[in-house]
Amino acid sequence: MNNYGDQVTGMVLENFNRKYPIVVIGSGLAGLMAARIVSAFQPVLLLTKQKICDSNTRHSQGGIAAVWSKEDSPDLHIRDTLIAGKGLCDKSAVALLSRWSKPAIEKLIENGVLFDKDSRNSFRLGLEGAHSLPRILYAGGDATGAEIQRALVDSVRLHGDIEILEDAHVTEIINEEGRIQGVTYFNKRGERSLIACQQVILAAGGAGQLYEHTSNPNTATGEGSVLAYMAGAELADLEFYQFHPTGLNIPGAPNFLISEAVRGEGAVLRNSSGTPIMEKVHPLKDLAPRDIVARTIAESMQADNGSPVYLDATGIGEDALMKRFPTIYKNCLKYRIDIRKDPIPVIPVAHYMIGGVVSDLDGRSTVKGLYVSGETARTGVHGANRLASNSLLECVVFSIRCADAIRHDQSELPEHWKNRNKARSFILSDQNLSQPPSMDKQGLQKLMWKNVGLERNRDYLQYALDKLQSPSFRFGGDYSREKFELFSMKTLSRLMAMSALQREESRGSHFRSDFPKSSDSFLFPINRSLATDTIALNAL
Ligand code: SIN
Repeated sequence: MNNYGDQVTGMVLENFNRKYPIVVIGSGLAGLMAARIVSAFQPVLLLTKQKICDSNTRHSQGGIAAVWSKEDSPDLHIRDTLIAGKGLCDKSAVALLSRWSKPAIEKLIENGVLFDKDSRNSFRLGLEGAHSLPRILYAGGDATGAEIQRALVDSVRLHGDIEILEDAHVTEIINEEGRIQGVTYFNKRGERSLIACQQVILAAGGAGQLYEHTSNPNTATGEGSVLAYMAGAELADLEFYQFHPTGLNIPGAPNFLISEAVRGEGAVLRNSSGTPIMEKVHPLKDLAPRDIVARTIAESMQADNGSPVYLDATGIGEDALMKRFPTIYKNCLKYRIDIRKDPIPVIPVAHYMIGGVVSDLDGRSTVKGLYVSGETARTGVHGANRLASNSLLECVVFSIRCADAIRHDQSELPEHWKNRNKARSFILSDQNLSQPPSMDKQGLQKLMWKNVGLERNRDYLQYALDKLQSPSFRFGGDYSREKFELFSMKTLSRLMAMSALQREESRGSHFRSDFPKSSDSFLFPINRSLATDTIALNAL
């Protein structure tokens, strides 16, 4: 019996509406790339919560890191990635990421992505924080994600063996009898369907919407991790959430991202009196690691009675600014900020979920038949802090590997999967979820921003956990997208706060003011199976 009471018998779901060998959940770069490759050998059903173009990928500006220039080498990229990850990266995953970066770019080009080139027809390479040399490929100046999304969407649409269902909101991945049996989704009219399948690729993006300030679109509500968790998969590294230092800070306006590449081109962060704030903080100044820049901005705002910090890009020069950052220019102009002349008010924003569903080097989760890729996956490449522009690269490299694993696993089932993880079916049971919501989305976002944000400590985290304690979601029978999203956001928030409480040290993107130093005794992921089910059960 699954969470909705459907009878699951052996490999067959009695109430299923349709059957597909492989279902992909999510239509960002990871999902589209995986679908595109898998469809060469099996029909694919791609489910996406909103429209196919709506993803975190589309919003990415800076670009995609790759070992491309003659001066660069995998060793250099590996070194930069490991330094950023502060001792927690999986070295094999990082080595794969670097060594496969060139083929990954070629794969994107093969699928129609047009990267920016210089007058000699070579790819332009940008510099971003904590990279030893320029190695970021970009498109349309600062519209890299939009170009990748366009090309991949065209590519999957042209390809015959991919059925795309938009406005299809997945609420359950069914794990019964030791393996994946299918998925449940709701359409826009609130009608439920059950798809029987043996393999699912989960590529549902991140969770920036958990926070009051985020660069992420409204779709980023953390459901990837929660669906996998409900299906019994292990999660890890949830305490590591990356805050990007520079989101636009205009009251009432979205926190539109101001790419790190703007600082890569020479822009400087200043306080309201015009003093550069990074000068004495780090040898790399404005291109210091993101966690350091983000915390310095927050401290400067606090010391300045909440006055914004400004990013001054005026030194870059008009022509260079317009060519390199046309999207940022246009967006700022909407709010009467002409970046050629005016400094840009900025604030740190929740940007990237580093932890997630534990994945091996081929996208396999710990549940038989469930694969993960992109921001939903925790491959180990980012450790405690992600190096800028490694995320689009991770999507391509690990989706290619995941597609290969799917083909391989159709004939042979890996040992480590044998009946290891059972579904956590308590989550949707009526008795846990029958009370009315105790906290709305805005309340949750404020709670997370203040207590599980840039700076944490035991009291803040415990306060957040106490607030998230009570059952708060009613599911039985009356589905709505908002309710399920809120349920996912609360579940993930709680798991993140629990993880952050357990890591009694500061490392990378996780900063504890009560444990401001790193400690060697925490040089491992503390939450591979995320505490225990008992804790999670009580929590909900
Ligand atoms: C940016 O353009 O600053 C974002 C790049 C990234 O997060 O990797």
